[in-house]
Amino acid sequence: MCGIIGYIGNKKAEPILINGLLRLEYRGYDSAGISTIEKNGLKTIKNKGRVSELEKVSGINDLTGTIGIGHTRWATHGKPSSTNSHPHMDNSKKFAVVHNGIIENYADLKDFLKSQNYTFLSETDTEVIPNLIHYYYQTSKNTGSKKLLEAVSNTIKMLKGSYALEILCSDFPDNMIVVRKDSPLVIGKGLNENYISSDIPAILSFTKDFYLLNDNELAFISRDSIEFYDSNLNKIEKIPQNITWNAGAAEKNGYPDFMLKEINEQPMAIRETIGSRITSNSKSIIPDLDGLNKSYLSSINKISIVACGTAMHAGLAGKTLFETLCEIPVEVEAASEFRYRNPLINEKTLCIFISQSGETADTIAALKLAKSKGSKTLAISNVIGSSISREADFTIYTHAGPEIAVASTKAYTSQIVLLAIIAINFAEKLNLNKEKLEELKKDILLLPSQLEEILGNIQNIKNFAQKIYKEKDIFFIGRGIDYTVALEGSLKLKEISYIHSEAYPSGELKHGPIALIENDVTVISILTNRLLVEKSISNIQEVVTRGAKTFIVTNQELNHKFDEVIQIPKTNTLISPVLSIVPLQLLSYYISKEKGLDVDKPRNLAKSVTVE
Ligand code: G6P
Repeated sequence: MCGIIGYIGNKKAEPILINGLLRLEYRGYDSAGISTIEKNGLKTIKNKGRVSELEKVSGINDLTGTIGIGHTRWATHGKPSSTNSHPHMDNSKKFAVVHNGIIENYADLKDFLKSQNYTFLSETDTEVIPNLIHYYYQTSKNTGSKKLLEAVSNTIKMLKGSYALEILCSDFPDNMIVVRKDSPLVIGKGLNENYISSDIPAILSFTKDFYLLNDNELAFISRDSIEFYDSNLNKIEKIPQNITWNAGAAEKNGYPDFMLKEINEQPMAIRETIGSRITSNSKSIIPDLDGLNKSYLSSINKISIVACGTAMHAGLAGKTLFETLCEIPVEVEAASEFRYRNPLINEKTLCIFISQSGETADTIAALKLAKSKGSKTLAISNVIGSSISREADFTIYTHAGPEIAVASTKAYTSQIVLLAIIAINFAEKLNLNKEKLEELKKDILLLPSQLEEILGNIQNIKNFAQKIYKEKDIFFIGRGIDYTVALEGSLKLKEISYIHSEAYPSGELKHGPIALIENDVTVISILTNRLLVEKSISNIQEVVTRGAKTFIVTNQELNHKFDEVIQIPKTNTLISPVLSIVPLQLLSYYISKEKGLDVDKPRNLAKSVTVE
């Protein structure tokens, strides 16, 4: 939530900051603002609303400074307004700060600063930061950059919560300080220029060399150098990481929206995620998992999969995979619940954390909790060097490329494929289910071309979207692994079309929701398990009898007539969500388009939930 961007170099900063903010807007779009260092000091322009509104503010094009910071906001403390927008300044207007995160003890800090005669303009938690920096700067006995570094270091020692901060000081017109804790921030290294951002894709067109900061490490940035310090201001060395994503991956490449592009990138995302990890007729090769060997896997009594949102739905598919192939019991839980309920895990539990961004606050906190209880931790992330990958004992990456649309699509299918590959790897180590594994590997390798087949035939989905886009309630049903897809399909629909929807296990219909089925209500059903077809058809007939319209995604031959049947290729039930979710992603997408909504940036949501 919230995106921050920074530039320090020889070019005019303003267009670079605006461009970066547009790319980071998926993280929040309640307000936007920038500060640059001009010849006559710091200049800040900020505005309520989207970055496109900020671009219209008079005078913004007149900024000529070559150092600047920017922010796009997802409001937490204080309603969306110009005053609450970032950057925030201290009372003396010497410091400008942008912040992503939450300062939990801001009220106490505000009281302290008020007692020192500081005044506040906004309702935000952030405004205490520039004022605290000013407070420590004034009282510092140091000189030069040490004085500024000391003031920032003393300030962050007072902060409780999460933060990625960019700080400008008018006494240092050629520098910027950045620091982070539990919120993402990357530094892109250029030639005589440096870029700062909440994520890599926003600055990928400028550089592929990135520095990553650990919690409470500071960077003192100039045009041609970056000094790194630990929290006690000891100098540290860092080596930049080279990122292999190409810049085009962060562009729409001719698609009207990122979501449609990302849906269509699924064949490629799956191919890349499979990579050379599995081939048919030979054992999986996953060096990242060598540490989880046979003796360890034989000793564990449970796997806990913990994640949020769509990643948790991928985890539900993972449960069936691990239980079927590895014969180990699996629990799946929302990170926000797991972290506060004292879960029964110990050194015999393997905890798997799934997070596309690797920055979701609840997932990171849950991971820390699992470590504190002695469990081994395995992270699944799409972002190299992300926070969860740095915290976990083991990390394995999906290679889906940057996912920018708020509603997750290719990350979900890549996560399920990776879970399947991990389950195969574990089962091989445990010498279990040899034949099943061979069949499953073959089926996994077919997924990319099967996805291409589904994506090449979407007209009926578009037509059905046109029929139902005005509806108020839509139901999703399925059994077993199809139920997990129903949950994800329902989430997609809610997120981007704002239609109320619920997902139920088909067998639960009669325990309540069928009371809501009346003439013309749409029921969407997923039907991919041969063994459960007849039972599921009976459930669908029950809603048809009560007047429901039916949209069915299936890989089975159905001898009954329904309003719309989308046939998908046959595959192993264990990985069927990778195919059966795609028509539902597309249905939500086209419903949202019919309604004229902003598909990539649905209201109130943000891609990366870096606050609780
Ligand atoms: C937000 C996003 C979802 C995502 C979830 C978890 O809610 O809108 O698309 O599934 O966070 O994100 P993560 O990055 O941890 O997978």
